[in-house]
Amino acid sequence: MAFPNSQATTFNDKVVRQFAIMTVVWGVVGMLVGVIIASQLAWPELNFGISFLSFGRLRPLHTNAVIFAFGGCALFATSYYCVQRTCQVRLFGDKLAAFTFWGWQAIILMAAVSLPLGYTTGKEYAELEWPVDILITLVWVAYAIVFFGTIGTRKVRHIYVAN
Ligand code: HEM
Repeated sequence: MAFPNSQATTFNDKVVRQFAIMTVVWGVVGMLVGVIIASQLAWPELNFGISFLSFGRLRPLHTNAVIFAFGGCALFATSYYCVQRTCQVRLFGDKLAAFTFWGWQAIILMAAVSLPLGYTTGKEYAELEWPVDILITLVWVAYAIVFFGTIGTRKVRHIYVAN
């Protein structure tokens, strides 16, 4: 589908690019941890007897990295890219969009430190402890404002199903 690109220079592509780059970075990191834990299944001694390298701590690091860091950044990037083009309007709230990027990266770093240290709620896919959960909530509320704010200020009457 071709969209007129007369306004292309006014789109916020910076935040799209940032999330796209970090998708690749976290994809490499997450899958590398996947290779490490896969190797540990074959050779358990690869944890070297070090607690933060143990399978039980690296496995949630892998799942969180590939789902929330790799997958999450990909979803932020693609949704911010699509919503601007289908609405033919710049992303609503540049500063809020920047907050979703930096906030999300901070959350990922907190997970990357806290999970190997053994801080976990013990619930799969909800392992992160409450202080991180608060920041996650703030980032996603900010995302909602950016996304629905963009839909609300759209210059195209139709709302594309992609959104
Ligand atoms: C180089 C690529 C990857 C390798 C080597 C790898 C390896 C692994 C290993 C060894 C486990 C643990 C299996 C177990 O406990 O028996 C695992 C679990 C998991 N991985 Fe990966 N992984 C890779 C990529 C990915 C990607 C790209 C995703 C998603 C985007 C992903 C999502 C998951 C999930 C959701 C689980 C938990 C599955 C379950 O509990 O049944 N992995 N992975």
